[in-house]
Amino acid sequence: MGFFGSKKCASGFSSSSTAEEVTQGVDGSALTAIVTGGSSGIGIETVRALALRGIHVIMAVRNVAAGNKVKEDILKKNPAANIDVMELDLSYKASVRKFASDFIARGLPLNILINNAGIMGTPFTLSKDNIELQFATNHIGHFLLTHLLLDTMKKTAKESGREGRIVNVASVGHKSTYSEGIRFDKINDPSGYTGFSAYGQSKLANILHANELAKRLKEEGVNITVNSLHPGGIATNIARHNGVLNFLSNTIGRFFSKSLEQGAATQCYVALNPQVQGVTGEYFEDCNISKTTPHGRDDEMAKKLWNLSMDLINRKGSSGFSSSSTAEEVTQGIDGTALTAIVTGASSGIGAETARVLGLRGSAILRHIANNLHANELARRFKEEDVNITVNSIQPGTTVTNIFRHGGIFNGIVHTIGKFVFKNVQQGISGEYFSDCNLAKANDQARGADLAKKLWDFSMNLVK
Ligand SMILES: NC(=O)c1ccc[n+]([C@@H]2O[C@H](COP(=O)([O-])OP(=O)(O)OC[C@H]3O[C@@H](n4cnc5c(N)ncnc54)[C@H](OP(=O)(O)O)[C@@H]3O)[C@@H](O)[C@H]2O)c1
Repeated sequence: MGFFGSKKCASGFSSSSTAEEVTQGVDGSALTAIVTGGSSGIGIETVRALALRGIHVIMAVRNVAAGNKVKEDILKKNPAANIDVMELDLSYKASVRKFASDFIARGLPLNILINNAGIMGTPFTLSKDNIELQFATNHIGHFLLTHLLLDTMKKTAKESGREGRIVNVASVGHKSTYSEGIRFDKINDPSGYTGFSAYGQSKLANILHANELAKRLKEEGVNITVNSLHPGGIATNIARHNGVLNFLSNTIGRFFSKSLEQGAATQCYVALNPQVQGVTGEYFEDCNISKTTPHGRDDEMAKKLWNLSMDLINRKGSSGFSSSSTAEEVTQGIDGTALTAIVTGASSGIGAETARVLGLRGSAILRHIANNLHANELARRFKEEDVNITVNSIQPGTTVTNIFRHGGIFNGIVHTIGKFVFKNVQQGISGEYFSDCNLAKANDQARGADLAKKLWDFSMNLVK
C-alpha cells in the first residue's frame, strides 16, 4: 500500500497483500476462469495471477488487440500460462450473447467468473441497447453474462465436485449512489444524472446482484458462491472519462493508492483462497469481509433490481425480437433463393451486414427506401392502386420492400430492421415504421399523410 501502512485482519491479509500472496499454494490447474476487462488495470494483474496458479484464463475484452498484447506480455514471463482472448462488449447485449454462445460452444468447464470490467463517471450516454451506459456496462452486461454462463458453471460444479465462484468487482463508490439507491424509474433519465452517482448506482447494483444471486443459488442448493468487493484505490485507467481526476489519480494519487498487485488481491482472494470456501453473499475489502451500506444490504432492493435486470435483458417486443436480435436471427429459416434484392450503401456498416445476411439466405434485390414519408406515401399509392407492393407484382421472384432508416427520431439500433421488414412483407405489413424489429410509432410529422404527399410531389419535381 502507498503512503499509509496496513493492518492485517481476520484473514491474515491486508490492504498491502498482493494477488500472488493471497493465492500462494493454490493449485488451479484443473480450473477455468473468465475475467472481464483483463486488458487494463487490475484486470491484467488478475489474469496474470490466476494463470500463474495454473488456471486456464479466458480474457473477455472489448479490445482484442489490447487483450492479445497483455497475453503476450504474460507469456513472456510465464510461457506455461494458459490464456485465451475473446471479444466481449458488456455495453451491448448482442455482444454478451455472442461471447457466451461462443464460449459455451467450446465445451469448456467454468469454475470462476470474475466480473471485473468497468467504466466510471461517463457523461450521460445511452448504450446501443438504449440503457444508461454505466448501468449497462457495469451491471446489465455482467448480469446477462452471469445469467448466460450459469448453467455451464452449475454443470462444472456438479461434475467436478468443486465449488464455483462468481466475483463481482464493485467499489466503495457504491456509497455515492443516488439517495434512493437504485433509481428504478429513472435509469435512463438524464435529469438529475451525475457521472459519479450513476457510477455509484451501477456499483451498488454489482453488490445487490451478488447478494440476490447468492441467495437464489443457496436456496437451490447449488455449489457456487457469489460475492462482491471493493478492490481499493488504484491508479488505473478507470478515471479516463474525467480529465482532472485521471490526472490526480495518476500523479499524486499514486502515493496513496495500491499497486496493481495489491489492487488485484481482493478479487483473487475471493476467487481462489480456500478461506473463502462456502462464504457467499458477502462484501469484501482488503481481502477481508467488510460491511456495506444499508442500501447494499437491502434485500427488497436486490429483488427489485433482479426483476428490473431480467426485464432489461429479455426486453422483446411483440415480434419476439428485440434491439439485441441479430440480422441472422430475424431471417432464420427464410429461403431467399428465388429472390433478388438491391441494397444501397452496402459497402460498409449495417449495409454491408444487410447484404451479407441476404446473401446468406440466398437472395439478391432489396430496394432501400430511405425515409418514412416516402415509404408511407409509396405504400398508400400501392394500396390505392391495389398494387401488390411486394416484388412479385413488379418482377416475378423479386421482392420490393421498405426499410426505414432512422436515427434522429428514436436514435435506436437499426441494423436488424431491414431484415425484419423483409421477412414480414409477405404478411402484408405496409406503410409502417419499425424500431428494434417491432412495429413502432414514428412522430406525428412522420405519420402525416399530407406532408408525405407534399414530399412526394416535391421529390418527383426534383428527380424530373
Ligand atoms: N481503480 C480503482 O481505484 C477502482 C476502485 C474501485 C473499483 N474499481 C473497479 O475495478 C474494476 C477494474 O477497473 P480498473 O481500475 O482496472 O480500470 P481500467 O484500467 O479502466 O480497466 C477497466 C477494464 O474494463 C474494460 N471495459 C470497459 N468497458 C467495457 C465494455 N463495454 N466491455 C468490456 N470491457 C469493458 C476496459 O476495457 P478497455 O480498456 O477496452 O476500455 C478495461 O479492460 C472496475 O469494475 C472498477 O469499477 C476500481
